[in-house]
Amino acid sequence: MRTIRDLDIKDKKVLVRVDYNVPIKSNKVENDLRIQASLPTIKYLLDQGAKQIFLISHLGRPEGKPNPKLSLKPVLDSLKKLLPELKNHIEFAPLPNSNQGNIKSNAKIILLENLRFDPSEENNSTDFARSIANYTEANLFIQDGFAVLHRAHASTEAITKLMPSGIGFLVEKEVENLTKVSKNPAHPALLIIGGAKVEDKAPLIEKFTKKFDQIAVGGKIAADGYQNKNPKIYTASDFDEDNTGAKLDIGPVSTGEITNKIVDAKTIIWNGLLGYAEDPAYATSSTIVAELIGEKEDATTVICGGDTTAFVEAISTKHPNLHYSLISTGGGASLEFLLSGKLPGLEAIKRASL
Ligand code: 3PG
Repeated sequence: MRTIRDLDIKDKKVLVRVDYNVPIKSNKVENDLRIQASLPTIKYLLDQGAKQIFLISHLGRPEGKPNPKLSLKPVLDSLKKLLPELKNHIEFAPLPNSNQGNIKSNAKIILLENLRFDPSEENNSTDFARSIANYTEANLFIQDGFAVLHRAHASTEAITKLMPSGIGFLVEKEVENLTKVSKNPAHPALLIIGGAKVEDKAPLIEKFTKKFDQIAVGGKIAADGYQNKNPKIYTASDFDEDNTGAKLDIGPVSTGEITNKIVDAKTIIWNGLLGYAEDPAYATSSTIVAELIGEKEDATTVICGGDTTAFVEAISTKHPNLHYSLISTGGGASLEFLLSGKLPGLEAIKRASL
């Protein structure tokens, strides 16, 4: 697979797919792990003399329509903070529309608006990919959005047919690290799964039983009543509720069951918070699990998913003694890669490398 090192960058306009699907509140980025993770690629491109860098990403699920709440504009401030020497050379640009020519700005780095404001992104439209290529006049494509590689979209698949393409440093690192974990996981291997993307995660749970010894299900999936008779799958069964009866955290019995599994496990993958941990009143189970995993010295431990990694990072800041083998920027992408070693966005780069 071609990597950024195999491409001649000098004087090129480079289109970089990043995953800046980050938590944003009141127009501020709340956790910039994914933005920080894109810096090695951006800095390398600058060092190698790239003429201009165009960063493209999605944010949330706007379903093909512009939605100011899901604008990528707040990310611009984070980029300026992380690259202070370039702060006057980083700009924001809208998505291309049919009566627009190309981008006139000479700014060194240009961040485009949320790709998913246009339905053609998720439809993997070659015309949309071409319009981005023409608009930016890019002559190289670097795929560095590891967390979105399980999607075959215009910015992960169609675009790779239009110009020389390769992977960036983040994708390379994630693939290397996750390959090590998935090849020969030490047993017992435990997957803890929670979070909110129920429709994405439920189909993966059963598949993991082929590779993992135990799966513990919490979070919204469990609260929504996920059931599976497979003896390897444990679903949380008691919950902390608010006064309307909404199940907002798993309860002490289920937390105890999961911690027992953590104590025995030699490989642990954790994706998805076990309760609505944004509210400290419902962060109990996630806190216990994060601390226990972070204290393990006899296991390979992997944390994945935007909310889970942000949560674990916040806890590690308070308790620097906690340690995790790998904090992955991917959520669904990491799980799918752990299962099959393949992702549509990676396969696209492999085909483009032939
Ligand atoms: C993620 O956060 O897992 C990625 O950004 C992919 O987002 P999606 O599940 O909305 O495609």
